[in-house]
Amino acid sequence: MPPRILMCPPDHYGIEYEINPWMNRSLGAVRELAFRQWRHLRDTLVGLGVQVETMTPRPGLPDLVFTANAGLVFHSTFLSSRFKHEVRARESPHFDAWFAGHGFAVEHLPENMFHEGAGDALFCGDTLFAGYRTRSDATAHNWVGQKLGVRVLPLELVNTRFYHLDTCFCPLAPGEAIYFPGAFDAYGQRVLATHVPKLIPVVEDEAFKFGCNAVVVGKTVVHNSRCPELAASLTRAGYTSIEVELDEFLKAGGSAKCLTLRLDGEEAASWRGSV
Ligand code: ARG
Repeated sequence: MPPRILMCPPDHYGIEYEINPWMNRSLGAVRELAFRQWRHLRDTLVGLGVQVETMTPRPGLPDLVFTANAGLVFHSTFLSSRFKHEVRARESPHFDAWFAGHGFAVEHLPENMFHEGAGDALFCGDTLFAGYRTRSDATAHNWVGQKLGVRVLPLELVNTRFYHLDTCFCPLAPGEAIYFPGAFDAYGQRVLATHVPKLIPVVEDEAFKFGCNAVVVGKTVVHNSRCPELAASLTRAGYTSIEVELDEFLKAGGSAKCLTLRLDGEEAASWRGSV
């Protein structure tokens, strides 16, 4: 079975509100360039053998392109996100409809907690690493852990530029990940070091180019361009790194990983392949 990834074309993408420090309405996105970059990412993934599913873009939902935030996929269950911001919560009915129409059991979290899907919850082995504070709540992560019967390790995100866990942490395989230490406090760094034996740090300059926001397909890592040190570290670790320019999406606080949602389990998730 080929890897399957959900994406949404950027027909209606733009910077129409400001809900993270990267967004600035006066620095709007260039539609044609965004399209070219998005297609380049999609074609790169298709070239790696990925089956890319696409959702219908909707006017008035400029961030619908960031499918990583739709929810959390676990086997054939789709746990729909509870977005912190109303402007993004409006995306949920569209994501829910897509998943219901594609054979997933759509589940919802209780109303009084926030959870932004795969943007803040990433499996590394059989553990769910969970970012909280800016967008998702620690209580929501605990609820998810109980619901799915998996161990959750909550990590506080202390730098508002790295407001989702997938902006500063990317599992490569069970026991192996890249991360930006500066996005975590000393406790979070210790949790990561204890539970992920092979941790590859990303330098600050490249973390700010969203190098950690990478898509892993087998032993290939697709990430934003202008991250030469990351590319070198990945090569040393036995990976092939592919750089794709996605700076139009950086303007909204997103890059490669945010634009994708793995439907058959992330590469590092030990439950993958058991669907
Ligand atoms: N503008 C979007 C937001 O602030 C960007 C989402 C990026 N997604 C991600 N998984 N990090 O919600």
